[in-house]
Amino acid sequence: MSYRFTDLLPADHSGPALRHDVLTGLTAEPKWLPPKWFYDKTGSALFEDITRLPEYYPTRSERAILEADAAVIVRSSGAGHLVELGSGSSEKTRLLLDEIASGGYTALDVSEDALRQAGDGLAATYPDLRIDLVRADFEEHLTEVLRRPADGPRLVAFLGGTIGNLKPEQRQVFLRSVRDGLNPGDSFLLGADLVKSPDVLVRAYDDSAGVTAAFNLNLLQVLNHRLGADFDPSAFEHHAVWDGDRAWIEMRLRALRDVIVRFADLDLTVRFAAGEEMRTEISAKFTRERLEKELGAAGFGAGGWWTDPDGRFSLSLWRPSDVM
Ligand code: SAH
Ligand code: AVI
Repeated sequence: MSYRFTDLLPADHSGPALRHDVLTGLTAEPKWLPPKWFYDKTGSALFEDITRLPEYYPTRSERAILEADAAVIVRSSGAGHLVELGSGSSEKTRLLLDEIASGGYTALDVSEDALRQAGDGLAATYPDLRIDLVRADFEEHLTEVLRRPADGPRLVAFLGGTIGNLKPEQRQVFLRSVRDGLNPGDSFLLGADLVKSPDVLVRAYDDSAGVTAAFNLNLLQVLNHRLGADFDPSAFEHHAVWDGDRAWIEMRLRALRDVIVRFADLDLTVRFAAGEEMRTEISAKFTRERLEKELGAAGFGAGGWWTDPDGRFSLSLWRPSDVM
């Protein structure tokens, strides 16, 4: 093992933070939970399975862009250190790391399993790369992570379309905190999924093999394991809906019958009526204009735009500018 691992989350992170989210989201009308709780060991592995599904185009499309343009992107950023937010398996990241193999790589993720598995593989491939793995929440610890010293200009990457899993208000706060953490000469590389036919989108989030359904339903097991809940996952079904007005996919879990769930660790009982749905994720899709507007409002200026040959997914490079 030749990486450094830092844990910025308390050992019982899934205690107070998950408790808070459950108490807020499952007592709301309609019920909802934030998607970061998907990623326990099983959830991270299921996400990797999703990336290989025929219907799930985002990973393949982003990889195609990186295969064609990673060298140009890294060169035009001038960076020698890559900081990646929500790095997961860091698989596609290798195409960027090939260009800075003797620099630094900081990977930030909430999942320790995903970080360590990625770190083992990367250390073997890139013996001269300084690898820093940080278990942290990119909505909470950005300032702290971006304050760390680096060797020269950094490229901060947020790949995979994970930006779309943040609600618009969260997204603006997040983008602003990335901007505030950048030094002059740093850049931001954003992977964002693009608006397209609802059929293609819904199939990507409701695949025929049922892997996305398993990923969604695994959230109930996370709640059972971490908060002593007694969800019966077979009482719920996965549902993916395209909301054209808000330009996002919603993943939901729908109760197949009346369900009463007891959370032993929370002294909480939650009731679902038959047919009631709980929102577990949004996955927003973008246009170039919308990204330019949102990034501009957060204090970024455009530095480059790339798409895959089918125009499904985008990578864009941004540099700090003055806020309008
Ligand atoms: N970037 C990878 C993984 C995308 S999956 C790719 O493109 O394939 C989303 C990743 O973000 C998961 O690894 C998950 O653990 C992580 N994640 C989700 N919410 C997070 C948060 N709030 N803070 C840090 N990591 C988060
Ligand atoms: C991590 N994120 C970008 C994925 C997405 O497409 O929104 C998570 C996912 N949810 C269902 N399938 C994949």
